[in-house]
Amino acid sequence: MKLMEELAPKGLQGVYVDKTEIATTDSTGNLVYRGYRVVEIADRLSFEEIAYLLVYSRLPNREETDEFRKFLIENSKLPGYVVKIISAMKGMNIMDILRTSVSALTVSGRDEKSLLSLAAKFPAIVNLAGDGPDPDKAPTGSFSERFYYFMTGRDDQKNAGLLEKILIMYMEHEFNASTFALRVTASTLADPACAFTSALATLKGPLHGGANSEVLKFLLGLKSQDEVRRYVDDTLAKKEKLMGFGHRVYKDRDPRAQYIKGLLLRYFSDREVVRNAVFMEEYVWEKKNLAANVDFYGALYMYLLGIDEKYYLPVFACSRVFGWVAHYIEQQSNNKLIRPLALYTGKKDQKI
Ligand code: COA
Repeated sequence: MKLMEELAPKGLQGVYVDKTEIATTDSTGNLVYRGYRVVEIADRLSFEEIAYLLVYSRLPNREETDEFRKFLIENSKLPGYVVKIISAMKGMNIMDILRTSVSALTVSGRDEKSLLSLAAKFPAIVNLAGDGPDPDKAPTGSFSERFYYFMTGRDDQKNAGLLEKILIMYMEHEFNASTFALRVTASTLADPACAFTSALATLKGPLHGGANSEVLKFLLGLKSQDEVRRYVDDTLAKKEKLMGFGHRVYKDRDPRAQYIKGLLLRYFSDREVVRNAVFMEEYVWEKKNLAANVDFYGALYMYLLGIDEKYYLPVFACSRVFGWVAHYIEQQSNNKLIRPLALYTGKKDQKI
């Protein structure tokens, strides 16, 4: 084996580490799922159709979509011992409960259905962990109607339809940190619950999924354009990160952020916080050439849909898990253990 003599860039920035047929992004602001531009299919297809597309590499017909929807509902039931784990952890961070519960679920199969039966349990875990309403009284319609009810206790088709849009935006993003962690774990031939646990642990960090709940902490407190300017100037002067801005791949525009921004302007343009957010996006671009990412507008969008902040990252997880299913399958289909090298720069020839 020939060793690469050069050290890969820090953070593997700009390095292709494998091939994928699931999704692609580019720096000009495109996100494509299995050949379809996400911003186009989000207007025309349901969450279930797009999840099916990611997992099975083709769009379902109506019958298959109905079956898929039914499958997700039927497989959402949690085993009694997981209910006990969740009860024992009540009041803790929902992502910690989700990660712990998923790691406790055993899945023997490695086929699409086994993986999907695990994914189907995510919203039910979030519902119970968040002390949500009785899941048996949930609407039996779409994934997003049920999920919206799980978090708010409301059977509201309009808001559920709007939630569906952000779920679609969050569903898949090629080799982002959590998916890469999942693929590393899958490459050891560990079972799906192990791989999903790795992914969930990685998603929680504020440089990845955790950014969305950080955004509201400052955005709601900014009451005017002057306050926005001051906040941005102070944060940058202190060399701190502006949460919800910047991206490893999208340097000019994050298509998901722009899509959600469009919905905010369409449905909530009368809200001052929306106008301030748009101003902040423009100001940050002017000052530092950083584009707003999906978490910036996503957090505000979920807030205006009446979703409690404790659910923001779990919403991301319950959607992204369908991308993880596709990646687990793809990793298995052409597996090689992911095991890179580290260039040793430590001390040499030490003597006791
Ligand atoms: N706020 C302030 N400065 C930022 C920034 C942010 N959100 N994101 C990047 N920068 C700055 C860096 O400090 C660096 O500045 P410098 O050249 O003066 O040192 C420059 O922009 C390049 O950033 P870099 O850290 O190399 O980009 P990256 O590709 O490694 O990081 C993120 C990508 C997402 C980790 C980074 O943009 C970030 O931390 N954003 C905030 C967290 C967030 O919103 N995450 C969700 C992503 S969807």
